[in-house]
Amino acid sequence: MSVAVQRAMAAVRIKSKVAIARVGRDSRRLDTIVNLPKIETWRREHVPDGTPAFAQREEMYDHVHAQLIGDGAIDYLEFGVFEGQSLRHWTQLNQRPESRFYGFDSFEGLPEDWKRFDGQMVKAHFDVDGVLPDIDDERLSFVPGWFQDTVDIFLEKFEPQAQLVLHIDSDLYSSALYVLTRLNALLVPGTIVIFDEFSSVLNEFAALEHYCSAYQREYDVLASAWHYFGHLAIRMR
Ligand SMILES: C[S@@+](CC[C@H](N)C(=O)[O-])C[C@H]1O[C@@H](n2cnc3c(N)ncnc32)[C@H](O)[C@@H]1O
Repeated sequence: MSVAVQRAMAAVRIKSKVAIARVGRDSRRLDTIVNLPKIETWRREHVPDGTPAFAQREEMYDHVHAQLIGDGAIDYLEFGVFEGQSLRHWTQLNQRPESRFYGFDSFEGLPEDWKRFDGQMVKAHFDVDGVLPDIDDERLSFVPGWFQDTVDIFLEKFEPQAQLVLHIDSDLYSSALYVLTRLNALLVPGTIVIFDEFSSVLNEFAALEHYCSAYQREYDVLASAWHYFGHLAIRMR
C-alpha cells in the first residue's frame, strides 16, 4: 500500500472518531449494556466451579467468617455504613474482644449521584443528617467524613493487628477506587475484601478491575451472593 493511501485511510479513521465523539450518544445506560458482558468474561476467568453462591449477603458473610476467620480476631474496615446494617452483622458475627471495627461514611449521603442501570440514586438518598448508627459495641469506632478527607489521616495511625477484612459498600466507582488504591499497602496477601454492589459493572466491578490492573494485584474469589454476583468476597493474593 502506498504512503498516500495509508495517509488517506488514517485521515478517514481520525475523522470517523471525531464524528462519533461529536454526534454519538453519551448514554450511561448504553455504556452499562455494553459493559455487562464483561462480568461473564470475568466469571469464566475468576470463578472456579463450585465456588459458593448464596441467596443473601449475610449467608456469604457467615460462610467467609466460618471458613477463613473461625474464632480469630479481625480488623474490620467498612466503607459505606449508612444505618449500619452490615456493620452490625459483622460486630455480632465476630465476638473476639480484641477485634476492631471501623465504619467510614460521610453520614451525609453520596458525594455524587449514583447512576445505575435501572435509573439513578440521588446523592441525598443515604443522607442521615450526620447521625451515627446506634450500635452498642466498644470495639467499634466511626470515621465520619468523605473518604477522600478521612482515609489518609486514619492510615497515619492505623497499625493492623489481626486478619484484615475490608468491606466496600460505597456504591460509586470513584469511592471504591479511591479506597482500594489508598489502602493498597494494607491489602497484604490474605486480606479479605467484600463488595456489596459488585455487579454494578461501571462502579464496584470497574473499580476492582482498574485497581488490580494499575497495581498489578490478583485475588481469589471466595464466595458470592444475590443474583449473579450482586455481592462478592475475595481474598488478595
Ligand atoms: C449503600 S450505603 C451503605 C449501606 C450499608 N453498608 C448497609 O449495609 O446498610 C452507601 C454509603 O456509602 C457512603 N459513601 C459513598 N461514597 C462515600 C465517600 N466518598 N465518602 C463517604 N461516604 C461515602 C454513603 O454516604 C452511603 O451511606
